Amino acid sequence: MRKNSPSHWAAVDRYFGDLFAAHDEPLNAAVKANRAARLPAIDVSPLQGKFLNVLVQMTQAKRVLEIGTLGGYSTIWMARALPKGGRIVSLEFSRKHAEVARANLRCAGLLRRVEIRVGPALESLPQLKAEGAGPFGLIFIDADKDNNPQYLEWALKLSRRGTVIVVDNVARHGTVIEAKSTEPDIRGTRRCLEVMAAHPRLSAVALQTVGIKGLDGFAMAVVLR
Ligand code: SAH
Ligand code: DHB
Ligand code: MG
Repeated sequence: MRKNSPSHWAAVDRYFGDLFAAHDEPLNAAVKANRAARLPAIDVSPLQGKFLNVLVQMTQAKRVLEIGTLGGYSTIWMARALPKGGRIVSLEFSRKHAEVARANLRCAGLLRRVEIRVGPALESLPQLKAEGAGPFGLIFIDADKDNNPQYLEWALKLSRRGTVIVVDNVARHGTVIEAKSTEPDIRGTRRCLEVMAAHPRLSAVALQTVGIKGLDGFAMAVVLR
């Protein structure tokens, strides 16, 4: 294997993953069910799931908001780190994805801690706010990237001082640097990053990740006030 090549990064990811993010039966079953239902294979990686799990513990978040459930793979990792009485609200556009996710969470014994709301997140978010939901301690944004600027604005409305906001897929094989791109995903991600970087209520950073999903990255911010 050539050093510092994509296959080398993937091998290191597997090494770290075996150490820190080994799958048990519920995680294996969830991946299998997602593939059987032909959901797109765009879940976070095992290590990224563990990263979210550790973040829930670091923030001691009792309430977590996820935008983009898919089959609930990332939801399982986060739900497992919740303190007693902790809850996740996860927003998902697709009824089918939500059904698969509910089944996976039920198998993992976590469904009681998770509420999956079906519909466009830009409709569910104002509803959550109107109901007085939140503030959330951790917010994971991982849905349609063109709406990331709007999701960030809603995340701020549902935040308190100390809330951590994580945005997935901010590098997308490096395409994020295409400043003149007309691709909605790239434009949405770049606009979201620009707002995060400049926002007076946020202290923010973005990090590239390499591994089994290739080159990608997370943006993260803590809400200051
Ligand atoms: N967080 C998941 C992956 C989410 S993939 C994991 O790591 O396991 C992105 C999901 O966002 C898909 O299931 C897609 O259906 C959903 N999505 C896309 N557009 C959406 C929208 N407007 N509102 C809510 N969910 C949306
Ligand atoms: C895609 C979306 C994701 O959330 C992800 O983690 C990887 C890929 C996609 O739409 O291609
Ligand atoms: Mg993602």
